[in-house]
Amino acid sequence: MTGLSPSLQSKRLLLEKEIVVTGPSTSPRLVRVCRRESALDRPPVWLMRQAGRYMAEYRAVREKVGFLELCKTPDLAAEVSLQPYHAFGMDAVILFSDILIPPEAMGMEVVFGDGGPTFPNPIRSATDIDRLIIPDPLEKTGFVPDLIRILRRELAHDPETALIGFAGAPWTLAAYMIEGGGSRHFAKLKGLMYENPALLDRLLGKLAETVALYLNAQIDAGAQVVQLFDTWAGILSAEEYRRFVLPAHQAIISRLKRDKAPIILYVNNSRGLLPLMKEAGPDVISVDSLTSLREARTLLGSDVVLQGNLDPVLLLGDSQALDHGVQTVLAEGGDRNFIFNLGHGILPPTPTENVRLLVNRVKESARSPLYAS
Ligand code: CP3
Repeated sequence: MTGLSPSLQSKRLLLEKEIVVTGPSTSPRLVRVCRRESALDRPPVWLMRQAGRYMAEYRAVREKVGFLELCKTPDLAAEVSLQPYHAFGMDAVILFSDILIPPEAMGMEVVFGDGGPTFPNPIRSATDIDRLIIPDPLEKTGFVPDLIRILRRELAHDPETALIGFAGAPWTLAAYMIEGGGSRHFAKLKGLMYENPALLDRLLGKLAETVALYLNAQIDAGAQVVQLFDTWAGILSAEEYRRFVLPAHQAIISRLKRDKAPIILYVNNSRGLLPLMKEAGPDVISVDSLTSLREARTLLGSDVVLQGNLDPVLLLGDSQALDHGVQTVLAEGGDRNFIFNLGHGILPPTPTENVRLLVNRVKESARSPLYAS
């Protein structure tokens, strides 16, 4: 017995229900899961590279403006960032930009061509590394905080939806800056790693400082979650990862304003590296499609928040295989400490009806009768 009058009791029950449904704070669903604040009726869902060429609305904007100009024009970048949210209702908006914006601000020329991004003058010497500046993020990339402020304003009516900021991690950025673009074998990057590790350290150190300042500027402007993309760290052995990648992650994560925004860490081809990702201390580990979420939980422990990991290729095919894949990820992700996402970025030929199906299925997964409204 609580000793409360019946009307007060029912009021308290209502309040309790509200607390469970919306969480103890008014933070968005995604943030609540990152912070392990409460069990939720369903996982939040968003998709890596959710804004892009698979959407006709995006292609229409790109017909009028080049990719870099789009990134640097906050009104247009805001429009493109919001396109998937408006069309499919994801639980998060990720700001539209690219991981290669900070290297450009450091003094490297970057070109976005049809074959992907390239650096016409890649790093070839110690002098090239010494010449790079550590840019003031407001002075050199002020269009990013401007974009974040616009997006927070646009999302003010919907406190359940989170705004995600992001950056590329030092290893992946160094890969592009040294190779001059994408690469199959990363021979130049690995060559430097084997032959002059101290010089590579100098570059990674400069990049870590740049990325920490850049992400904190995003958090100051209103990013509610940040994701660190280390797409190419999966080309390394565990020993090499511990030597070159982990210190860079630690340098960044230890400097971030974690009280204001949790951090998600993504590495592609991360099987065998997951415990090392955990050592860096992110709030969430984003798992690729080659490791099942069940296996990741066994490796990392059930208290770690996981994000992932539907194979983006499933979005290209028929709805039955997709549906089955979504149910598998939902079942393995479980009803807590889990964010539904892909194992890697969405592919340009993805049909939009498949994206809609995916988001709807995750939203329909709300299980507990307590939440049925
Ligand atoms: O998730 C989002 O919707 C936000 C936008 C975003 C882009 N790039 C837009 C983009 C994000 C988060 C990125 C990250 C990024 N960029 C990564 C890490 C994640 C991953 O997928 O591994 C990497 C490695 C890059 C570098 C990059 N930028 C490549 C390899 C390419 C060409 C390949 C491709 O998909 O086009 C880009 C260009 C790019 N970045 C496009 C978009 C929408 C396509 C540009 C166009 O309009 O032609």
